[in-house]
Amino acid sequence: MSRRSCLAIVLAAGEGTRMRSALPKVLHRIGGCTLLAHVLTSALKAGGSEIAVVVGPDHDAVAQAARALAPRAKIFVQKERRGTAHAVLAARKAITSGTDDILVIFGDTPLVRPETLTQLRAALSRGAAVAVLGFRPTNPAGYGRLLTHDDDLLAIREDRDASEAERKIRLCNGGLMALAGDKALAILDAIGNANAKSEYYLSDAVAIAREMGLKAVAIETGEDDMRGINTKAQLAETEAILQKRLRAAALDAGVTMVAPDTVFLSSDTKFGKDVTIEPNVVFGPGVTVADGATIRAFSHLEGAHVGKGARVGPFARLRPGADLGADVHIGNFVEVKEAKIEAGAKANHLAYIGDARVGSGANIGAGTITCNYDGIAKHRTDIGKGAFIGSNSALVAPVKIGDGAYVGSGSVVTKNVPADALAIERAEQTIKLGWAKRLRQLKGLGKKKTKSSKK
Ligand code: UD1
Ligand code: MG
Repeated sequence: MSRRSCLAIVLAAGEGTRMRSALPKVLHRIGGCTLLAHVLTSALKAGGSEIAVVVGPDHDAVAQAARALAPRAKIFVQKERRGTAHAVLAARKAITSGTDDILVIFGDTPLVRPETLTQLRAALSRGAAVAVLGFRPTNPAGYGRLLTHDDDLLAIREDRDASEAERKIRLCNGGLMALAGDKALAILDAIGNANAKSEYYLSDAVAIAREMGLKAVAIETGEDDMRGINTKAQLAETEAILQKRLRAAALDAGVTMVAPDTVFLSSDTKFGKDVTIEPNVVFGPGVTVADGATIRAFSHLEGAHVGKGARVGPFARLRPGADLGADVHIGNFVEVKEAKIEAGAKANHLAYIGDARVGSGANIGAGTITCNYDGIAKHRTDIGKGAFIGSNSALVAPVKIGDGAYVGSGSVVTKNVPADALAIERAEQTIKLGWAKRLRQLKGLGKKKTKSSKK
């Protein structure tokens, strides 16, 4: 089957009114990725050699996102919203290119797994002209019902058009469908709109295929795969299911999590071997964690790489471009952004390292700040290997601290520091002997208490 070519058509022209949002529905995110990204990834993994995305007339943002995710994707605009079959036909040009299989995928059904789509394609390779995903939702109201006879799928009846008896059927249409490439246009063009909504229903493809003497089948799958998102509540429910899947996959791959339910993952989070994650850690998109690293409690990571054996947190923040080498330590209340921290370097407490390189083995003291922004532009700080930055230092970028150099604590460093040099910038310390004692005496404090003075 792998040699069969496949066009995946993603329907994303819906308005998504019930999301009550200015953002198009398919650009909402779960697991750190847009709904569109989820379905495109599944489509590609299921062998979609060609991708078509059908968008609404005002959905340039959706088109752009689709192009960014799948540069080869062809974008089609459905000018009027006249039903799911009408939407598929907006991609007519792609359909006529003549792939073996056509997969129709809804943009708001992000949990559909590639394996499930592959099952649909397998039904085509066994000779079906139409294969439909069926499922048994807890509450079937609103879904199209699958009318079957033995192994044959006879028709799909939309909820609004169904009889009382048909509404009692629990096996429902997931909406996603596979069509044989050489029959698809004939079937789709034959679909009319004589129904309760006067829309062109993709679900009618089944009855029409049968009238043409072709075979239609249903493949049953779980409710989670078919979960569609129309509201923010459904977005949150779907996120919860995705998080469960991601945690289970991470545990399966050998990640140690003491409280997995409190760890939030992104679909693209990548872990090496023997990684440990403490409770309440959030992984935004684009994080990789190498072998043996530990992410301690309450840390937030996004667009970051954590090297082998490195230790992050508790309470650390790694922002995009944070690149930690092997055995690096990033401790509590340390923020790292767009910075390469080389092997063995340490920033254990209260620091901001942005737009910087920290050489191997360097030590960044508590309270160190790379002052990377002058109000107009960002500048870089370069800290050499083995350098020591004393606590509470401000490194005013652009600035270079040489290998093995030493910055005295409390310094504001504005000039480059040569290798192995000391830079110190702070007021001379004044010592006044006995000063504190005199102060206490003046305020009547610190006198020795006698028994008589006590009553
Ligand atoms: C559809 C199915 C129904 C199935 C249900 C599963 C049809 C006619 N009905 O109903 O049998 O049980 O999904 O969730 O197919 N879209 C467009 N353009 C349009 C209309 C829809 O792009 O003109 C897109 C939507 O953005 C969405 C998808 O098609 O991604 C499904 O449309 P929706 O209106 O949600 O269909 P349902 O009524 O849920
Ligand atoms: Mg729907």
